[in-house]
Amino acid sequence: MSRRLATEIAGLKLANPTMLAAGVLGLTGSSLRKVVEAGAGAVVTKSLGLKPREGYSNPTVVQVDCGLLNAMGLPNPGVSHFGEEMREVKETGVPIIVSIYGFSSEEFAKAAEVAVNVGADALELNVSCPHVEETGAEIGSDPELVTEVVRKVKNKVDKPVFVKLTPNVANIVEVAKAAVETGAEAITAINTVRAMAIEIETTRPLLANKIGGLSGPAIKPIAVRCVYEIYREVDVPVIGCGGITDWRDAVEFMLAGASAVQIGTAIAFKGLEVFKSVTRGIDAYVRKKGFGSVKDIVGLAQNF
Ligand code: SIN
Repeated sequence: MSRRLATEIAGLKLANPTMLAAGVLGLTGSSLRKVVEAGAGAVVTKSLGLKPREGYSNPTVVQVDCGLLNAMGLPNPGVSHFGEEMREVKETGVPIIVSIYGFSSEEFAKAAEVAVNVGADALELNVSCPHVEETGAEIGSDPELVTEVVRKVKNKVDKPVFVKLTPNVANIVEVAKAAVETGAEAITAINTVRAMAIEIETTRPLLANKIGGLSGPAIKPIAVRCVYEIYREVDVPVIGCGGITDWRDAVEFMLAGASAVQIGTAIAFKGLEVFKSVTRGIDAYVRKKGFGSVKDIVGLAQNF
């Protein structure tokens, strides 16, 4: 792996700027380990809460023309049951970011504490799930609630805190600023876009939950715009997420201001090989442009 690709996010050392996005292959130690072996610079778990949660009934994921639509309902075994899974990935030395959610700031803080106890190197606060009531985007659309969640989590744990934001708000920059002013060490932008699809023969919504979140190529320009706007207003790393399918997408996010990129939906279409092809492509681009490090291209599009 080329030295040009090495980067650092909030003190975490990444061999390359790709990460597994929350939600895909993030529920078991063995699947996370496969992602590490495929070349990801860091991995993010599926969002974990204080208590086990079943999630919605099927169908929870459907393919649409321009990506995937999902509404799983935050199914997970509960963060305290995740220690065993973590052990398998810990051995690799690749940073593990545990995604957590809660139905109150207190729950976020307790889940954060447990996540750190089971081995999280950093936390990603999911204040952006677009369809589970009383959590996710209901919190993440209000800068005051985000402030309260970040403050309570920061008071409880001593690991870097990332905040994953929803694009389903009027002003994502305001929310990012609230998170950073309260101590968030990185911002992940963006979670899925609230969306739905209907099967015209049966007249039924395709997802059991009817409304879900859209990911994949369709949301990339929205995500790039969010990264671009957030980067200029905060002084912590921004992690880009949303429709990264090949190295060109990753470079585009980095030029907008992303220090690293998260890949999720593309795994469903291209397999785990996507991590290697994206990192190779970023490396070749950086070299061709005459830079010594991937860090040198972050935010270049801001100069125009
Ligand atoms: C889900 O579990 O339904 C998705 C979670 C999310 O979008 O944050």
